[in-house]
Amino acid sequence: MPTANSKSNTTPTLASTGIYAHVVGWGMAVPENVMTNDDLSAFIDTTDEWIRARTGIRERHIASERESTATLGLKAAQQALDVADILPIELDLVIVATSTPENIFPSTASLIQDQLGASKAGAFDLSAACSGFVYGVQMGAQAIRSGSVQTVLIIGAETMSRVMNWNDRGTCILFGDGAGAVVLRASQEEGGVLSAVLRSDGSGGDLLGIPTVGSLDVLSSKAGLENGHSMSKMYMNGGEVFKFATRVIGDSIMQAVAQAGITLSDIRLIIPHQANERIIQAAARHLKIDSALFMMNVERYGNTSAASIPIALAEAVKEGRIKEGDHIAFVGFGGGLTWASMVIKWGVPTPGETAILKKQRREFSYLLARWRAALRRISRRISEAFHIFRPVQGRLARLRRKVDNSPLV
Ligand code: ACO
Repeated sequence: MPTANSKSNTTPTLASTGIYAHVVGWGMAVPENVMTNDDLSAFIDTTDEWIRARTGIRERHIASERESTATLGLKAAQQALDVADILPIELDLVIVATSTPENIFPSTASLIQDQLGASKAGAFDLSAACSGFVYGVQMGAQAIRSGSVQTVLIIGAETMSRVMNWNDRGTCILFGDGAGAVVLRASQEEGGVLSAVLRSDGSGGDLLGIPTVGSLDVLSSKAGLENGHSMSKMYMNGGEVFKFATRVIGDSIMQAVAQAGITLSDIRLIIPHQANERIIQAAARHLKIDSALFMMNVERYGNTSAASIPIALAEAVKEGRIKEGDHIAFVGFGGGLTWASMVIKWGVPTPGETAILKKQRREFSYLLARWRAALRRISRRISEAFHIFRPVQGRLARLRRKVDNSPLV
């Protein structure tokens, strides 16, 4: 394992291209509905004292019927675009890290790309459970460093409440819903994402997961039944996951720090996946550092899986815990098993004079995106129904092209 002082393992692309990927925008969104520990104890055998003592969680936000992973992700994304002061059309790539997508496809990323009006962006979902956001930021940063894209939106979004077994008191007390997002942008200025360590140990796949319909449909349904698991509901061996998490957090942070060519004492804030306060305290003991160096908000949101790190990041910035030039670290861990650490040198350009104008253009882009999607659907239906009526088709196609190429967005 590299030591904290090792400088030999620097990410090669940093040196080779001279392009850096900076975090220039951030945002978060949680549902309005709050479920307290007392609310939980009304329908399962648990208590506020037990949950607080074992996890540090007091309450979590739960999506209403009208909310989903995409609606929460969209709100977080819009905030991040506001902070970055960029237009949706400037995005090259939209990545959504989630374990609770609306569908297997179309991806949640495609739904959000459409609703933003990010009509020049590619979009895909990424599945790495609670490590997914860190994986996503690294994918975005690498794409930027390669020179192939300029601006990437990365969202971590979840509606964990939809995959909970609400009769399993060992898991349903832990999770909540929410979303967070960042915008990464290319810059010649040194800094941004300095290093990342992504790891997986698939042999621990039986420790937590969400069985679903897939390529092994018949087999997995059978296996699920044999193990007492239910389709589309989360199962977890809490004790084993706890041990795994406390083992990997410290080691992977040290690896990411070494890869960035700095030492642990250079890190101003560690933003860990918010799973359990005791896991974070154990990691602090392992690293022999004060637990105050870790950002913690699990108390108010529970475990929001891939959303927890970007939500904590947005709150840390708001609370003034991150300053220009600071080195910060992310560390995620979860299903797969997967884990991931990253070091970022914070440095955000101040918003330009066009901020107000761009805000109006963003609002217009969201509105136009809705019309565009509706127009495309209508035009497809008309084409199907009246495929011989060419003049109408031609006019609709011209209108569609006008909307697509509108200089306003
Ligand atoms: N209320 C009251 N009692 C409970 C509850 C509850 N909600 N849940 C379990 N208990 C009981 C158990 O039945 C057990 O009783 P027993 O001794 O009579 O059998 C006792 O409390 C102790 O249970 P443990 O499971 O040993 O409790 P533990 O201290 O390990 O805490 C917990 C359980 C909170 C789940 C812990 O193991 C944990 O946080 N694990 C990590 C989970 C995690 O981080 N998962 C997220 C991974 S991220 C991702 O990818 C989704």
